[in-house]
Amino acid sequence: MAGVAGRLARRWCPGVLRSPVQVTCAPALQLHGSRPAMRATQQDFENAMNQVKLLKKDPGNEVKLKLYALYKQVTDGPCNTPKPGMLDFVNKAKWEAWKELGSLPQETARQNYVDLVARLSSSEAPRPARPTAEGPRSGSDAVLVSSEGAITKITLNRPSKKNAITTQMYQDIMQALKAAGDDDSAITVLTGSGDYYCSGNDLSNFTDIPPGGLEEKAKNSAVLLRDFVACFIDFPKPLVAVVNGPAVGISVTLLGLFDVVYATDRATFHTPFSHLGQSPEGCSSYLFPKIMGSAKAAEMLIFGKKLTAGEAFDQGLVTQVFPDSTFQKEVWARLKAFSKLPPNSMRISKELLRKMEKEKLHAVNAEECRVLQTRWLSDECMNAVMSFLSQKSRL
Ligand code: COA
Repeated sequence: MAGVAGRLARRWCPGVLRSPVQVTCAPALQLHGSRPAMRATQQDFENAMNQVKLLKKDPGNEVKLKLYALYKQVTDGPCNTPKPGMLDFVNKAKWEAWKELGSLPQETARQNYVDLVARLSSSEAPRPARPTAEGPRSGSDAVLVSSEGAITKITLNRPSKKNAITTQMYQDIMQALKAAGDDDSAITVLTGSGDYYCSGNDLSNFTDIPPGGLEEKAKNSAVLLRDFVACFIDFPKPLVAVVNGPAVGISVTLLGLFDVVYATDRATFHTPFSHLGQSPEGCSSYLFPKIMGSAKAAEMLIFGKKLTAGEAFDQGLVTQVFPDSTFQKEVWARLKAFSKLPPNSMRISKELLRKMEKEKLHAVNAEECRVLQTRWLSDECMNAVMSFLSQKSRL
């Protein structure tokens, strides 16, 4: 089984990234297209295990952990094995996911496994470029894309982890932005679900080490980050951040690349790069001094000073702050009115505003990623990330 799991992990991340979570699967059989009315049988379970092998897209570590946990619950029952050591991140994460299922009955675990695989398979089915009606459109569970009239809304949807961005989510957001840039919407919005806007880069991304080791990991991550930020630099339509709660790290630095930033008065803005042995990204090393002046930018980007929503507004990072109780209502009413403006005119105006800076922004982005690539390999960074992850394991 371990061999099959290893092959699966390699197939999901061909030659570049080795998944830290290996999901066990089994021989081939066809999954039912729709959910059966009766409870999942052993045959359904085996079909689902086979279907996992056919997935083309890596579903991300969180989903793989869920699959692993459910599989273990079905085959071995509740988790009774000893907890792996604090620094054995991968096995500890797998153990925790399994343990979390408690005494979930095996039949329920089997049904949940089958349902989850069915959802993953159906999310890979081809989708129309634009929905015919409003509502959910596409994206993995952690990044939702929907249409609200002439607005494309991209929602970070991982509230249990404060919307921390996994490697898969970086890819999903890029894909969503590319589609939104080409669709017939007038405005694109990025927001978060739950109490946070986003807690920045998922620090457990650092534990997903490919066969080429840390150097390869740092190089791949720098390429991913550069491509990710480039999507924001090049985005052709008005891009609005609806900051529904606290924002950390890259979700803050990127704000300089948005056209408008609306924030709830509950939001805070925090870039603890020095605390993590890292350095600024998202073109913030260039845009923040321009937006707020070099002294304020340094206090934020070098010393990690956390801003309240009011301070972020005073410093020009936020367009307007709204009381949390009326935030969604007021912001969406305003956005709906804006989205009725002539879309081509808005697109052309945005192009004019961005045009002279574009080349510079790409150069800044490349340089920030080059520096970060070396930072990620530094002792300062590794110790800080280890400290965050091991603090978690002590809770
Ligand atoms: N990476 C990975 N996991 C994260 C995360 C991140 N950036 N942010 C939050 N999480 C996880 C927590 O580990 C926790 O997981 P658990 O429930 O499995 O233990 C869960 O999300 C909820 O977070 P928690 O820390 O319990 O909530 P909180 O309200 O006490 O604190 C934060 C929220 C965001 C302040 C805190 O989680 C934090 O400091 N995260 C790191 C932020 C960061 O440094 N980002 C990178 C910037 S460059």
